[in-house]
Amino acid sequence: MPRLEHHTLKRYESIWFGIAVVISLFLFVSVIVSFISGTYSAIGGGGGHHITGVTNGRLDPRNIAATPFAKPGLRENADGTLEAFVVAKAFAFDPPVLRVPAGRPVTIHVTSLDVMHGYEVEGTNINASVIPGQVASFTTTFGRPGSHGTICNEYCGTGHHNMLGRVVVEA
Ligand code: CUA
Repeated sequence: MPRLEHHTLKRYESIWFGIAVVISLFLFVSVIVSFISGTYSAIGGGGGHHITGVTNGRLDPRNIAATPFAKPGLRENADGTLEAFVVAKAFAFDPPVLRVPAGRPVTIHVTSLDVMHGYEVEGTNINASVIPGQVASFTTTFGRPGSHGTICNEYCGTGHHNMLGRVVVEA
């Protein structure tokens, strides 16, 4: 009899092991899919890009003027790469509408001027906390033209629910 119990236990172990394998495969496939769809994002550290006035992904939020965040929006670097600078503040994103081209990698840098905000670009996996004094960076290729809402998903005060923006992807 004790042997039978032992067998039953083994069978349960196999079932759980099987479930774990299935879940791992699912997660693995999800990661691959997010890479392929070009929405993989890297958070923090400025994404390895050097930004004037930013050291190790950190800046002085009182001295934004010394950084590219002084002129928010998209810019094309001399080497042809695209970088966008977005400022979050109570209760708006600057620029309110960020226009980017389809099919080209864009590195988006976001910082906050006051309190902690969120930056989520709907329809992508860009979703991060935006902390004053820090820069969150993502590199993404938007596959096709369209419009994505950007929302603040960290409660930041009375205007939190109106803190909305947009990324417009142009052909
Ligand atoms: Cu900004 Cu909520």
